[in-house]
Order: sequence, then structure tokens, then C-alpha cells
Amino acid sequence: MATIVGAVTTSHVPAIGAAIARGLEDDPYWQPFFAGYPPVREWLRERRPDVAVVVYNDHGLNFFLDKMPTFAVGAAPQYPNADEGWGIPTLLPVPGDEDLSWHLVESLVEAEFDIVTCQEMLVDHAFTIPLALLWPGDRAREPWPIRAVPICVNTVLFPLPSVRRCYKLGEALGRAIAAWESDARVLLVGTGGLSHQLDGRRAGFINKAFDLLFMDKLVSDPQWITQYGILDLVELTGTQGVELLNWVIARAALPGAVRKVHAHYHIPISNTAAGLLALAADS
Ligand code: DHB
Ligand code: FE
Repeated sequence: MATIVGAVTTSHVPAIGAAIARGLEDDPYWQPFFAGYPPVREWLRERRPDVAVVVYNDHGLNFFLDKMPTFAVGAAPQYPNADEGWGIPTLLPVPGDEDLSWHLVESLVEAEFDIVTCQEMLVDHAFTIPLALLWPGDRAREPWPIRAVPICVNTVLFPLPSVRRCYKLGEALGRAIAAWESDARVLLVGTGGLSHQLDGRRAGFINKAFDLLFMDKLVSDPQWITQYGILDLVELTGTQGVELLNWVIARAALPGAVRKVHAHYHIPISNTAAGLLALAADS
């Protein structure tokens, strides 16, 4: 059976990709942000995951407003990205794991989640930037050292799935991964958030107190967040802060007790409160 090694949740601001491409990690604006990642990379080197199940939201690269699945699962041999207009170089496609993809598709449908299955799928900054932060390298030339399965969640176009529904999806995902007949070591990755709002009257909104409480609760009492409705979360975290649903799903997939490996929080990166949390499932 497969082993779930843990979960890493991180923000996915496009400007991070441009900063990596320009080698700005030690620049005074960027240094306090990038400083969060080495301890997590070190932990990943020890835990040696083979495949990452990446819970993220697409921003118009693969799905546009005309067709927006609530939950979609990738089942492709590889996942290319493309120019989204943010000034991020196009990287090599991320290799998939079709065996895990089809196992997840079958298990989630069996568990009554009516997902969309994607045998071709472009992945945007919300997928590639977290992987580039966790496995740094010249990914325009050097192959990725990890396979991945994308789980795409609609956090963009209302109506959004409820927090409770997302939590249940995460639990079903965790059960499915644990039941996968494979020697592989699997990492959950959840991307997006934390608080941010990119447009409208509250553009620039950040809620540090709520973000830090959310990160604490995600470790010790992950069900806490399910008391909130989607509109509560929009009010508390901003219209794009609801991307934290991806963190909730990744966390809910972890079986049993967890151990906090590392947490980091820095504001702002672009318009966003940048959070990072690594949880081990080995306790
Ligand atoms: C920003 C944040 C996001 O989550 C995103 O998808 C795009 C832009 C930002 O803060 O610039
Ligand atoms: Fe986003």
C-alpha cells in the first residue's frame, strides 16, 4: 500500500515565479519570503516522496468561465504549463502518474464525488510555483524530480464548494491514496491563499490574525474551519483568500495525528499574505 508522508501547503503568487526566474531569492524584498522554504526542502529530502497530489485552483489557463468544474482530477501522462501573461518562463511539463490518477478517479466517483476527469490538462502558476519552491532547479531545462497528480478545485467562480464538502473530499482523497496498491510515497500539496483580495473596494485586504489562527487550527483542530460558510471566508480572508479551501483538502487527506514540521508567514508578497505549512503524517 502507498505511504502518505505528509502535506505541504503554500501560497502561489505568480510574482514568485518571476522572482525565481530572475534569481531574486536574496533580494531584500524577497529574502524574508524565500527564507521559509529550506527547512521544508530538507524535510522532503529526508521523506523522499515519489509523487505529489497537488490540490490547487486554475485561474483561467485550463478552465475558463464558460466551463468550470467544481472538482477536476488530472489523468494525463504529463502536465504542460503555458504563458499566462505574468512574465513567468514556461517550464518543462510535470510528469504524471496515470496509475494513481485512475485509482483516485475511480475511488472518488465510488465515494460519490462527481468529478471531471481530465486526460489532457494545462497547469497554471498555482500548480507550478509551489513545485518550483519545493524542488528548486532550472525547470525550463532540467526534468522535475517528482511525479504529480493535479486535483483542481473551483475557488474562482461562484457557487464554490462548501468548506464541509471540501473537507470530505480531502478525507476521501486520503482514504483513496492509502488504499492505492503501490510502494510509492505520496505527498499532499495544497496551494493558494492566505488572505488576499485582488480587485474591488477591498483590493489589498489582508487578515493576519485570521491567517495565523487558521494555520494553528489546521495543525491541531482541522475541522474548526468547517464552521464557516464560503461568504464568511470571503469576508474574513478576501475574495481570493478562499483559495485556502485547497489547504483544507490537503490537510483533511492526512490520516490520524500530524506533527508540525515547519510554518512560515510573510506579508505581503504582491497583494497576498504568503503562508507555508509542512505537516508530517508519521506520528
Ligand atoms: C496574486 C495572488 C494569487 O493567488 C494569484 O493567483 C494571482 C496573483 C497576487 O497577489 O499578485
Ligand atoms: Fe491564486
